[in-house]
Amino acid sequence: MKKLAEKAAEKVRHASNVLVVSHIDADGISSASLASLVLDSIGMPHEVVFTKKLDEVFANGLRARKPEFVWFTDLGSGSTDLLGGLEGIITDHHRPLEPAAKPAIGKKRTLFDYDEKHDDSFLQVNPHMIGRDGGTDISGAGCAYLVARTLDPEMRRFANIAIVGAVGDMQDREGAGLTGTNREILVDGENFGVVEIEHDLNLFGRETRPLYKLLQYASDLNIEGITDNYEGSMDFFMGLGINLKKGENWRTWSDLKKSEKKIAIGALSELVSPELFTGEVYTFPMEKKGTELHEAKEFSTLLNSCGRYDAPELGLKVCKGDRDEALDLALGLRKGHRKNLVDSLKIMESIGITQLEHIQFVHVGDMIRDTIVGTVAGMLFGSGRVDDRKPIFALAVADDGIKISGRGTKTLVDAGLDLSEVMRQATVKLGGAGGGHNIAAGATISPKDVDEFLSLANEIVGRQLS
Ligand code: C5P
Ligand code: C5P
Ligand code: ZN
Repeated sequence: MKKLAEKAAEKVRHASNVLVVSHIDADGISSASLASLVLDSIGMPHEVVFTKKLDEVFANGLRARKPEFVWFTDLGSGSTDLLGGLEGIITDHHRPLEPAAKPAIGKKRTLFDYDEKHDDSFLQVNPHMIGRDGGTDISGAGCAYLVARTLDPEMRRFANIAIVGAVGDMQDREGAGLTGTNREILVDGENFGVVEIEHDLNLFGRETRPLYKLLQYASDLNIEGITDNYEGSMDFFMGLGINLKKGENWRTWSDLKKSEKKIAIGALSELVSPELFTGEVYTFPMEKKGTELHEAKEFSTLLNSCGRYDAPELGLKVCKGDRDEALDLALGLRKGHRKNLVDSLKIMESIGITQLEHIQFVHVGDMIRDTIVGTVAGMLFGSGRVDDRKPIFALAVADDGIKISGRGTKTLVDAGLDLSEVMRQATVKLGGAGGGHNIAAGATISPKDVDEFLSLANEIVGRQLS
């Protein structure tokens, strides 16, 4: 990855004007911010544009701008066939179009092997190129960070932004925190004093949610009398002698003393296994404690609140340091995002899941925004209220077709599931654009092809898992 990053950095150095193109989600915004920050620092004129997806229409629009050099971040690898006539670099972790380099048995794959096989109008810094899993090893932001760090070693002071991208993509979800190349970025962040790794309660909202809400809304925990029960949640802390308020203000988890945390974690462990609510938490000491920017998960949610509601530029400004107007507006959007997720989850559940032999699906029509249908499907899938022995496909009406989000589990992936391949094969057959990761992938297809898509997905998944 370092070698690829060096080559990419070299290409950037030789450009005179760069167009940064990125995805609208938290990782996409983090990626674009890292690119933009380093381009500022080396004095390179540039612009940043965001897109929901990289399809033919968008690629044509790009070509019409006649950019000299394009830096794709958090997208591009799955669409290199659409990029003819453009030149630049790709820092991405999605499954590449070309068969990815597999770790050669008994022989270390060299960069040379990779270069020989690929057209070099786009150099790709992508973990798949060295046989790693783009879903867990590193995010788009991490890949952009590697290039940024090569161009300017001082960029290490923004290592936290790369961590926000990885956490936004849920690369830390499967238990043991961030791993692989992400781990190296964490070490950079620690050494530079911009990231701290704590082993602590890791429920969402530890910085900004009032203590009782932290438990009340932790629906995955499913604790009788506490989950979805604000009185029970309040009683839990009060019964332990932990004050819920300090003066007029609700205290948050980040306000608690070490001794109070210990008591609360101990008591909670008697009700539910600690693995379910503790783990690595990544905090950023240079940001104010008790704010959205102080912890990776809340920071990434703030960015999603911008990108998924047509305002990725706000998130970009916040990542680049704006703590005034952009941050205020982003915080406003976050309130709406939270409510929207809660409402959408209820809608998806009330519509209900339809079972096919190897997959399950839910079509939400225009009741849920296409930009969050995947997040909602992931939340429902992870809630324990849906059978997770089959992958789930959530469909929603988008302005240019039907948006499909697929979500799986690590167990399914270990058994052979590859949702990016499902989306790829289906869109090759039906048209449209699709791709992603083995565990999470997406596509947009024509409304008339929905039934065929579902039967095709059912068939492909059946084959993958057989
Ligand atoms: O576009 P991008 O790669 O940035 O997004 C990754 C997507 O994969 C996110 O929506 C994330 O929630 C999802 N994901 C998941 N489970 C994982 C890893 C990623 O649902 N274990
Ligand atoms: O949109 P959704 O959250 O379902 O996306 C899941 C994963 O699939 C993300 O990593 C996203 O970037 C990717 N994806 C893609 N091409 C699409 C749609 C989604 O690569 N057309
Ligand atoms: Zn990503």
